[in-house]
Amino acid sequence: MSEAKRVAVVTGSNRGLGKAIARGIARTGAHVVVTARAEDAAVRAANELCAEGLSASGHQLDIADSASVARAMADVGYQYGRLDILVNNAGIAIDRGQAAASADMEKVRATLDTNIMGTWRCCTAAIPEMRKNKYGRIVNVSSHMGTFGELGPGSVSYRVSKVGVNALTCILAAELDNDGILVNAASPGKVDTRLAYGKANYTPEEAADTFVWLATLPSDGPTGGLFFQRRPLDW
Ligand SMILES: NC(=O)c1ccc[n+]([C@@H]2O[C@H](COP(=O)([O-])OP(=O)(O)OC[C@H]3O[C@@H](n4cnc5c(N)ncnc54)[C@H](OP(=O)(O)O)[C@@H]3O)[C@@H](O)[C@H]2O)c1
Repeated sequence: MSEAKRVAVVTGSNRGLGKAIARGIARTGAHVVVTARAEDAAVRAANELCAEGLSASGHQLDIADSASVARAMADVGYQYGRLDILVNNAGIAIDRGQAAASADMEKVRATLDTNIMGTWRCCTAAIPEMRKNKYGRIVNVSSHMGTFGELGPGSVSYRVSKVGVNALTCILAAELDNDGILVNAASPGKVDTRLAYGKANYTPEEAADTFVWLATLPSDGPTGGLFFQRRPLDW
């Protein structure tokens, strides 16, 4: 691998939108660390990208496990000497139809621990690696379901988790403004993945475009924004 290559970590990139984002970033010339809860799933997906002539490797990463997160980011820093791009894609949606007033609090805890805490954990572990080179692009995968003005009933913990992801995006962007680290979030729309249960308007490849764009922004690019198909989305 050439030393000038950007190095990207994409969480939950063994399948679905994450795999399409990993492929899209690798096509820009970066090295992509494909990650998954199960190491063999990460390595299998990375090998698929390598077979397409792209630069990729696989690493175990469970964003709900602090030790796994710390190990993955430190390994990337050690192995490649840099971590330029983090796409926080991994997420779960396990409370469809649930009302806030009668929520299963175990599902709430699991959803928040993965979608918001997991995203946050990955950021805190990756930022020190990014600061070493005064360069970073953090892209958080959010959802229209976390748009503040459109909050309604159903999927309560998923919605709350994505509101949290949007808030974290704004706060980190403001904190890191002078560190060369741009932090943005985007909603992919309804994408044909396991999470969408067949209700989709976009293929993972179509939806990945905005995330690849945000992952490769120039230094005067936006920070602290929420986007949909490259356009700013109202929070
Ligand atoms: N599909 C849509 O319509 C849609 C709409 C709006 C937003 N999104 C967002 O898009 C992102 C990707 O979802 P998707 O549609 O591609 O769903 P998906 O096909 O279900 O993929 C989810 C990915 O996240 C991984 N994951 C779940 N928990 C994890 C954990 N604790 N640690 C590491 N990886 C974990 C899964 O890994 P395993 O294989 O191990 O389960 C899988 O790779 C999510 O953040 C989701 O909220 C999707």
